[in-house]
Amino acid sequence: MKNKVALVTGATSGIGKSTAVILASKGAKVVIAARREEKGQQVVEEIRALGGEAVFLKMDVASEESIRDGIQWIVDQYGRLDLAVNSAGISKTPAPLVDTDTKDLQDAFQTNVIGLFACMKYEVQQMLKTGGGAIVNVSSIAGIRPTNLSNAYSASKFAVEALTKVAAKEMASQNIRINSIAPGPTKSEITEGLGDTMIEKFSQMIPMKRIAESEEIAKGIVFLLSEEASFTTGTTLVMDGGFII
Ligand SMILES: NC(=O)c1ccc[n+]([C@@H]2O[C@H](COP(=O)([O-])OP(=O)(O)OC[C@H]3O[C@@H](n4cnc5c(N)ncnc54)[C@H](OP(=O)(O)O)[C@@H]3O)[C@@H](O)[C@H]2O)c1
Repeated sequence: MKNKVALVTGATSGIGKSTAVILASKGAKVVIAARREEKGQQVVEEIRALGGEAVFLKMDVASEESIRDGIQWIVDQYGRLDLAVNSAGISKTPAPLVDTDTKDLQDAFQTNVIGLFACMKYEVQQMLKTGGGAIVNVSSIAGIRPTNLSNAYSASKFAVEALTKVAAKEMASQNIRINSIAPGPTKSEITEGLGDTMIEKFSQMIPMKRIAESEEIAKGIVFLLSEEASFTTGTTLVMDGGFII
């Protein structure tokens, strides 16, 4: 990872933040992209205190303009983009179909699908100019097996799986590997928002009887980005403590 330029969207917290910390510890120059500037600067300071290199980039993945300008800014600063992790995502409170607003589906798709699609598009455009790269999209087990009460979220993550595989096939001969990771319930701001009772309920449903630490998922993402995964593209790494067995 030494001196590789890496973009991590959604790096102000949770899985994205843990991934950014590990990438920086391995020598990558990491761009922390998200909306909350103060949180982003905190992550940058944390990484610098550990001897790593990072910079914050304010980016809203619900806006294609923000993504396009942000990726152009990275290339203006560093001259290239080698690695990208598309982790920015949202999840609304679980609800049955009859109580789900159309707006919930639109919001989930705007951020999780259209945003991720645009990120991949501009990332790949840059990687093509410098001879290759690697991308990991953060999906979910909800994108592998439909999950109760999450029609908007599940549908958005199934779409992430499809986008990943189509792009991977298209880019395989161009030295750009594109994979996804499908975490089960993981400690982050998303799960904090669900409350302790829900986390306990999830833990009981998981064969390992606990939810994941965000660092555990981040290690899987870093593996997929690394040379260790040099012959792996279009695959989904499920990390869920046995949830979908
Ligand atoms: N936690 C789980 O149980 C779990 C399980 C499976 C999959 N996932 C997936 O993992 C990914 C990361 O989530 P997390 O669990 O780490 O939750 P999290 O702690 O809430 O992190 C979500 C990140 O996404 C960013 N974000 C949200 N909307 C954005 C936007 N419009 N533009 C830019 N950044 C945006 C947030 O930053 P700002 O608010 O600063 O913009 C934050 O950094 C998501 O795609 C999620 O669906 C999570």
